[in-house]
Amino acid sequence: MSTPILQVSNLTKRFGGVTAVSDVSLDVAPTETLAIIGPNGAGKTTFYNMLSGRMTPTSGLIVFEGQDITGLPPHRISRLGVSRSFQINNIFTEMTVRENVEVALTALTGDSRKWFNVASRNGPVQDKADALLDQLSLSHLAHQRAGVISYGDKRLVEIAVVLATEPRLVLLDEPTAGMTPSETRQVTDLVKRLSETGQYTFLITEHDMNVVFDLAHRILVMHRGGSLVLGTPDEVKGHPDVRKAYLGEESEENAA
Ligand SMILES: Nc1ncnc2c1ncn2[C@@H]1O[C@H](COP(=O)(O)OP(=O)(O)OP(=O)(O)O)[C@@H](O)[C@H]1O
Ligand SMILES: [Mg+2]
Repeated sequence: MSTPILQVSNLTKRFGGVTAVSDVSLDVAPTETLAIIGPNGAGKTTFYNMLSGRMTPTSGLIVFEGQDITGLPPHRISRLGVSRSFQINNIFTEMTVRENVEVALTALTGDSRKWFNVASRNGPVQDKADALLDQLSLSHLAHQRAGVISYGDKRLVEIAVVLATEPRLVLLDEPTAGMTPSETRQVTDLVKRLSETGQYTFLITEHDMNVVFDLAHRILVMHRGGSLVLGTPDEVKGHPDVRKAYLGEESEENAA
């Protein structure tokens, strides 16, 4: 592997008696798309929460582009080039789509409070916002209030907001959850298109296996906080432990 963009070593997060993430180690190559899958409660979101700085690991190390980012606050990690979307939509519903992207763009320079001052909503920021909306085929929604657009479009705006911070590592948490098949296809196509620019490395958690197999170069299967299998889609598809993680517990119980 070329020098990894992300190196995770022995990452662990405990909540009292619950070990949500248990001793996970992983290298991610630049421009790779890596899917993280696993049953509900496997630890995927908790893993993201540590990568993005929302939660401090109990132990372990996170290195991004050679720099130790373990336990840094979210805004520092985001400025270093790691940005994430949330499992639950989080955009400003009272603002227009373009304003949402503008706020995210000014956050990059630490000026987001200034955005609310009309005078600072300058040409370059608006131009950048328009270019980003165009790239994501969202231009037709630029002046709509974000609260009134479709659920699928809201999630696309959220991706626009994530990209506005100019990340090199993008963490998407269930980007197609709750979407119609055509919205899902839109997101899948978008991620593929962005990935092919060579500008981004993606981590994606996803329950829709069609999306996973369509996008992922490699797949990490998490189970009960641990890393169960890490491999190519074909390796993961044929792996007996993976089937067991999803189905085995039930059938073992049935057999007992
Ligand atoms: N803040 C918290 N406090 C206590 N326990 C937590 C907390 N966050 C997560 N957990 C527990 O950690 C485990 C992993 O949860 P997590 O949300 O990371 O799973 P997940 O793989 O993202 O699941 P899903 O597929 O449902 O989104 C679960 O047992 C969960 O109950
Ligand atoms: Mg989750």
